[in-house]
Amino acid sequence: MSKIKFETTNNNVGCFIYNDLKVIKQDQIDEIKNLLNKYGVLFFKNQNLSPREYINFSSNFGTPAEYPMLKPHKDFKDIYVIERKKTDTGKSFGEGPHTDSSYLESPPRFTFLQAIEVPEEGKGNTLFYNQFLAYEALPKAMKDKIENLKGIFSSQGKIAQTRELRMADHGTSGKKEIKSQHKLVQSIDGRKTIYCSPGHVVGINNLHSEQEELINFLSSHQIKKDFSFSFGWNKGDIALWSNRSMLHAATSFNGDRKMFRITIK
Ligand SMILES: [Fe+2]
Repeated sequence: MSKIKFETTNNNVGCFIYNDLKVIKQDQIDEIKNLLNKYGVLFFKNQNLSPREYINFSSNFGTPAEYPMLKPHKDFKDIYVIERKKTDTGKSFGEGPHTDSSYLESPPRFTFLQAIEVPEEGKGNTLFYNQFLAYEALPKAMKDKIENLKGIFSSQGKIAQTRELRMADHGTSGKKEIKSQHKLVQSIDGRKTIYCSPGHVVGINNLHSEQEELINFLSSHQIKKDFSFSFGWNKGDIALWSNRSMLHAATSFNGDRKMFRITIK
């Protein structure tokens, strides 16, 4: 059996994988899935997959999801292009901690991002925040308090403003608010995570005067240094994360950057 060569980040927020994805085998994909469940985010460095190879690899993890806010790549409908030009102003797409499309009834389980073009100076790092670790670090009383609560997630939450720039170029016409409710505590392979997307959560069901205080507490707890890792991109790199166990955030940068995104239902 061919093994996966991997190494965790210094604080166990994610895991680097060094195998060449062009020649990956089924038993190795099973091992990659286990690592994804365990660590929440995987970084595949120095890969050079074509769009077709990238789609084929991602299809091992489920069915591609539609992203309601952007139009897909003109030749590959499963790929969404996240592009920023040197001349663009304002925030980067996805700046501010969030988990993807959490305002949907069934948010995508996984997201893939592939670096097609990265800025020469600064790499437009993506920050990741491990929500298994964030849950474990909560005081017992807080774990009990949130166990059965549901958050109210909206497409017009805080992060919506960072989407406007991308929508101007590649957006769909629908700007209607989408809202859903999800449990704040979720579980993967028996391990609990905090599922509260600071970019989207606008309230907590059945909590009234207290809800703002609780959202603020969780939002600042979820992104503490102990649970976070900043990933610097090189051309060809791919990151793959679970949207139920990981928050992520774009950072600001200057320069041309182009990423291909695929989300999995
Ligand atoms: Fe995102």
